[in-house]
Amino acid sequence: MTIQWFPGHMAKARRQVTEKLKLVDIIFELVDARLPLSSRNPMIDEILNQKPRLVILNKEDMADPAITKEWIAYFKEHGIESVSVNSQAGNGLDKIVKAAENILKEKFDRMRARGIKPRAMRAMIVGIPNVGKSTLINRIAKKNIAKTGNMPGVTKAQQWIKTARNLELLDTPGILWPKFEDPETGFKLALTGAIKDSILNLQDVAIWGLRFLESRYPSHLEERYGYTELPDDMAVVFEQIGERRGCLSSGGGVDYDKVTDIIIRDVRTTQFGRLTFDIPPKKA
Ligand code: G4P
Repeated sequence: MTIQWFPGHMAKARRQVTEKLKLVDIIFELVDARLPLSSRNPMIDEILNQKPRLVILNKEDMADPAITKEWIAYFKEHGIESVSVNSQAGNGLDKIVKAAENILKEKFDRMRARGIKPRAMRAMIVGIPNVGKSTLINRIAKKNIAKTGNMPGVTKAQQWIKTARNLELLDTPGILWPKFEDPETGFKLALTGAIKDSILNLQDVAIWGLRFLESRYPSHLEERYGYTELPDDMAVVFEQIGERRGCLSSGGGVDYDKVTDIIIRDVRTTQFGRLTFDIPPKKA
């Protein structure tokens, strides 16, 4: 579903997250491990307002593992704990509970010292659409919780999911908007399927993807498409891929739309291997 994030939607989404902040001890900020920066909400720090937080790099199975490690180190340097998981397979869920316990240790120790009866940690998942919020909730809940429409403003009575572990999770995630700040972020979000297809020109997205592969993952590009270097004229590339993959239009020429779909699908289904599109900013 394509979401048009008008200012009114953003304000409402923000309000909904803000209202629920007081119900929880900790926020699980879900980001896509392939784009830990571009898949964060641009106002997240302001919205969370010092609330304890664990960044969860989801879809680690599709991301470049070496760069995922760099991201975890980067967040740590900036005082933010993070873990990487694969919600689809259910890998890494233990790490979430352990990290949350560490982050909240002092708070719970203080509560215990004041004689307050121990209780489970309360958490809420927050993130942009398609980052895997429902998948993670279902994994933690070990059952299928109906997905709330990906629209800010769609509400239902929320419930706590009590896990076998020391954690209670709100069954409704906070849905926030992605960044639309620069074209490059848009291309990354579109290429990974974080924003749905109609927003950007898909041929531009595919071309950006090929150029990205050429500069960051040349061996992956060569292995899959046979190019060590891309020609300047991308029409030539589309013609060659189209001919090789049999993407012909009824008139007999190469169908550029089909080629576009193939390139994007190849990225999204890891045919080029595990790719990460954001790299941690270098230390000053
Ligand atoms: P949301 O609630 O944040 O909007 O996201 P949702 O859980 O619906 O997940 C979006 C897509 O991402 C789903 O694919 C889901 O299976 C996939 N996904 C979630 N977590 C992981 C993960 O850790 N690894 C991988 N590889 N995929 C994950 P989908 O149902 O096929 O939807 P779509 O791809 O057609 O959008």
